[in-house]
Amino acid sequence: MRWQLSLAKHRSLTGHSRMARRFASLVPFYEYGESQFFSTDGAPENVVAARRAGFRRLAQLFAERFKQTAGLTSEIGGAVSDLQFTSRYRVPFQFSGYVRRHFKPGTFLASSSGVTVTDLDGNALYDLTGSYGVNVFGYDFYKECIERGGERVRDLGPVLGAYHPVTAYNVRRLLQISGLDEVSFHMSGTEAVMQAVRLARYHTGRSHLVRFCGAYHGWWGDVQPGVGNPLAARETYTLKDMDDASLRVLRSRKDIACVLVNPLQALHPNVSAPGDSTLIDSGRRAHFDRDAYAAWLQQLRNVCSARGIVLIFDEVFVGFRLAPGGAQEYFGVRADMVTYGKTVAGGLPVGVLCGRREYMRRFREDRPADICFARGTFNAHPYVMGAMYEFLQRIDTDAVRELYRDLDSVWNSRARVLNERLAVAQLPVRVANLSSIWTIYYPAPSRYNWMFQYYLRAAGLSLSWVGTGRLIFSLNYTAADFAEVADRILSAAAAMQSDGWWWCKATLTNKAIRRRVFKEMIQARWASAAPATSPMGSISSPRIK
Ligand SMILES: Cc1ncc(COP(=O)(O)O)c(C=O)c1O
Repeated sequence: MRWQLSLAKHRSLTGHSRMARRFASLVPFYEYGESQFFSTDGAPENVVAARRAGFRRLAQLFAERFKQTAGLTSEIGGAVSDLQFTSRYRVPFQFSGYVRRHFKPGTFLASSSGVTVTDLDGNALYDLTGSYGVNVFGYDFYKECIERGGERVRDLGPVLGAYHPVTAYNVRRLLQISGLDEVSFHMSGTEAVMQAVRLARYHTGRSHLVRFCGAYHGWWGDVQPGVGNPLAARETYTLKDMDDASLRVLRSRKDIACVLVNPLQALHPNVSAPGDSTLIDSGRRAHFDRDAYAAWLQQLRNVCSARGIVLIFDEVFVGFRLAPGGAQEYFGVRADMVTYGKTVAGGLPVGVLCGRREYMRRFREDRPADICFARGTFNAHPYVMGAMYEFLQRIDTDAVRELYRDLDSVWNSRARVLNERLAVAQLPVRVANLSSIWTIYYPAPSRYNWMFQYYLRAAGLSLSWVGTGRLIFSLNYTAADFAEVADRILSAAAAMQSDGWWWCKATLTNKAIRRRVFKEMIQARWASAAPATSPMGSISSPRIK
């Protein structure tokens, strides 16, 4: 059984949670000084000079264009833990300090409209953040949901515990959409997932949850067993996605309560959500094969049914984005439980769990003291229910139905045409997509791909803190809006190329880059461990010049 489990682990560190946490704890801090920052790939002098000039120009542009936005961010940033974290992890840590000192894009926004957001300096930027995936239909849609929803529940106000009548409609619609029997409301996607797993354990009497390598299910410890969680998750198996070895484990083990699936992984099975902070080379790839993933889900469905394992689709991200009936409809496979979140409360915070009756019950008729507890002060808050009511009503309108029509062919053809244009222009940038969820990857080896996020920002495109790892389009992007974004991606890439960042030795490979970075880490670790008087040298600072 142990051997079978080992075979079902992905060979990467992501597939080995304990080892990944151990490795992460050993990675030493070091950073590049001024000169190495521009030439860590051994670029010749003229290329280094072009990079320096490009960097200075961009830094100057940021300082002027984002002055007030950056000013307020600097003022408050030191006191906001979230901001400190995200600003530090926008680019690989070796480059991060220097970048932070020179680029201060700022975090504040004043308004949104159509497909743009406007910062405190009055810059309108095309929004590619999608507000973490919440924004499926455009910000104006959500403003209306919140406003009208608020009007609907105003008389009751913030009364908790009892339900506003709009909740009855929400329950009925959610059950229709999910095809399941019962629903529970929570305050975040993370909580909905926690509840799904807790119930699965309660009803099966088994301990373990299975998640697939790289999949994000929120920040609860049991679903985040690797880096980021100070404790090892003992009752979690992280298995290879889309692999027979994992099916064999599901078929044979008796301790598995549930299988959690985040269908977003179809875009990059076995890989964590891509962010530019890990972009030390050009190894990032993505590709979506709908039929192959649907076949995989069907195999999971079969084995879960045969073994009494609860199959949970975590649709917090993709629900309502791929199809009106979510991933279940899109891939044609039914789950025992489904979580929704993000968009479903019309722009207000929420988590929803829908499930089959036998799994949702929190008590046992025959053993009244044996309960499965779950509460939450703000669950089913009237304002959240009001905005959700508006959301669920509106997705049935012709205008929204129209947005869903030909959804994949629209976004696939936009991605294809953009890739063709990038290829014709000989720019080392490509996109891959799962419908309106995109990621950028880089076909040629380079140490500087993470710089692209700053060129895109200068071109008026707003990305989230994971940079080019994830672009999320709202479905109200018209052909004209998209054409403008595509032009800007091309011009940003052309500017980055002419500034020399993508220069590369003919012999450079991603493997060589990774080897070099690994060597740097060993040197830095050795330097920090060596006594100051070491006869081997006087490296007392981990900074590598
Ligand atoms: C698939 C999935 N599950 C769960 C979550 C957690 O949701 P929340 O951030 O609302 O806690 C997320 C958030 O990104 C998600 O993408």
